[in-house]
Amino acid sequence: MKITYLGHSAFIIEGNNFKALIDPFVSGNPNCPVQKDDLTDITHIFVTHGHGDHLGNTIEIAKRCNSKVICNFELGHYISSQDQNISIHTMHIGGRTKMDIGTVKMTQALHGSGVFHNGMYICGGNPCGFVVEAEGKKIYHAGDTGLTIDMKLLSDEEIDVAMLPIGGNFTMDIYDAVKAVEFIQPKIVIPMHYNTFNVISANPQEFREKVTNADVKVLEYGGCIEL
Ligand code: NI
Ligand code: MN
Repeated sequence: MKITYLGHSAFIIEGNNFKALIDPFVSGNPNCPVQKDDLTDITHIFVTHGHGDHLGNTIEIAKRCNSKVICNFELGHYISSQDQNISIHTMHIGGRTKMDIGTVKMTQALHGSGVFHNGMYICGGNPCGFVVEAEGKKIYHAGDTGLTIDMKLLSDEEIDVAMLPIGGNFTMDIYDAVKAVEFIQPKIVIPMHYNTFNVISANPQEFREKVTNADVKVLEYGGCIEL
């Protein structure tokens, strides 16, 4: 499995039989190394919540690539309202399901999920994270979230790679993300949701130095790791 960082909270997860995106914020993402039309053959798109920096280019990429979108129930209906032909798998917090690529669990996130539409915010359900198990590897993308004691439950999942926000202001900062790593006990951690905007400035090397119980991989924009 290969994980490529597109800046902010956007990733490509590629296996032998799938090529998934998580939170594909491409247009408007100052650090994204690719254009939205460069993203081809996308089989699945995971969306953690309705904010523009996560929903991103989901609708247009899903339309063009015929991708399956995995998101919460309310956001799924919003996306359907924009294009009925998009294939959507809706879930809700705490739910686990088997799908073609493996097992997916929707986890809790402490955040908002409104969708900005026609000049106002409409309900986008609850924000979430995802635990995805595919091809013998388990990854956890936290979405946008504050630190929660419930993250301790994820230690039972034996996560291989956790993507955690560290930028503060809207999510955990470095101090809280270090605690999250202690709770989750993943093998590898990738910091995300930092330095896209001034208000979420953070030094990922400081995070790397403070984490003592996992291998922190600070990815360049467009950088990747292979598992
Ligand atoms: Ni958000
Ligand atoms: Mn965000």
